Amino acid sequence: MYKSIFLVAFIAMLATAICQSMAPTTTPTCAPKTTAEQENLKPNLQVLNYALTLEHLEAAFYREGLKQFTEQDVMNAGYSAQVREYVSTIAQHEAVHVSTLTTVIQGLCGVPVQECKYDFGYGNNFTTFLQVASALENTGVSAYDGAAQMITIKSYLTAAATIATVEGRHAAYLNFLVGMMPYPQAFDTPLNMTQVLAIASPFIVSCPAVNNQCNGVAATNSGVCSGNGVCSFTVCTCNTGFQGLDCNSTSSAVPSCPSQSTTVPPNNESGDDNSRSGAAQVVGSLLGVGAAAFAALFV
Ligand SMILES: *[C@@H]1O[C@H](CO)[C@@H](O)[C@H](O)[C@H]1NC(C)=O
Ligand SMILES: *[C@@H]1O[C@H](CO)[C@@H](O)[C@H](O)[C@H]1NC(C)=O
Ligand SMILES: *[C@@H]1O[C@H](CO)[C@@H](O)[C@H](O)[C@H]1NC(C)=O
Ligand SMILES: *[C@@H]1O[C@H](CO)[C@@H](O)[C@H](O)[C@H]1NC(C)=O
Repeated sequence: MYKSIFLVAFIAMLATAICQSMAPTTTPTCAPKTTAEQENLKPNLQVLNYALTLEHLEAAFYREGLKQFTEQDVMNAGYSAQVREYVSTIAQHEAVHVSTLTTVIQGLCGVPVQECKYDFGYGNNFTTFLQVASALENTGVSAYDGAAQMITIKSYLTAAATIATVEGRHAAYLNFLVGMMPYPQAFDTPLNMTQVLAIASPFIVSCPAVNNQCNGVAATNSGVCSGNGVCSFTVCTCNTGFQGLDCNSTSSAVPSCPSQSTTVPPNNESGDDNSRSGAAQVVGSLLGVGAAAFAALFV
């Protein structure tokens, strides 16, 4: 009896907490920051906006895909109807990641990056959609792993870990659906920001101007990869301070967006090279980059 009362109270508390964390409709007020606080926040805001850049991409990917593919399309592609339901749940997770990160950034006086226009290239093919999904989720895991060291606020590190592991669950399920090893190796491969943006930028068609205004990161779609995994792309990163970190900032100066290139390590860990490079070839050809180059990008 007592137990069940406690349980009910606990569930009610949990529900309240979840509702609060999922209610980002109003912009949180941000307390004024001292110069020292701003310095401490800068790298954290950059990594938060970087994570938000990727979450926007994933959220848009699933939202658009679910709008397009009906249960019948899913079954016609040879999957059970339940697959669409599970993909809907992934879509919900990504949407919550977007709204939560947005709220957190605003709460720190940062300016959150906004959603861009994307081209994911899967056409009418649900199987290809799942292959791109698997590629995005695996990249997301590597991105969170690589970004962890940029986070200097401990509680955010824990929060990031709780997102990274969920991305890992998504990746495992999607890998399984497309015939890839769900958990390919004992250690996931961390990728740094430059490497991840090199992978993500070919999907990005254009972004709202605000994303270029010193908010941390903004990638463009100039991603071109040669056969040896070297990718060139354009990315704006702000090293001189964040517009919006100081709540009174009115600067709209657009930073320069230098061309960069980076090398992404080859995907040749033990086990399932063939199945993974199979998916990579499909997505590589969609993006018009060499299949071999894209195989090298898949980790
Ligand atoms: C913003 O400007 C107001 C008025 O000039 C000032 O009182 C306040 O301290 C400023 N806030 C920050 C974070 O600089
Ligand atoms: C969909 O794509 C898969 C692999 O990506 C391919 O094997 C299949 O033939 C395509 N289906 C259609 C109907 O084009
Ligand atoms: C990311 O990794 C690549 C390849 O190791 C390296 O060339 C590049 O300098 C790194 N970038 C950053 C920002 O650490
Ligand atoms: C992957 O390939 C590179 C280049 O051929 C090689 O140096 C490296 O040892 C390989 N790594 C693994 C884990 O096989």
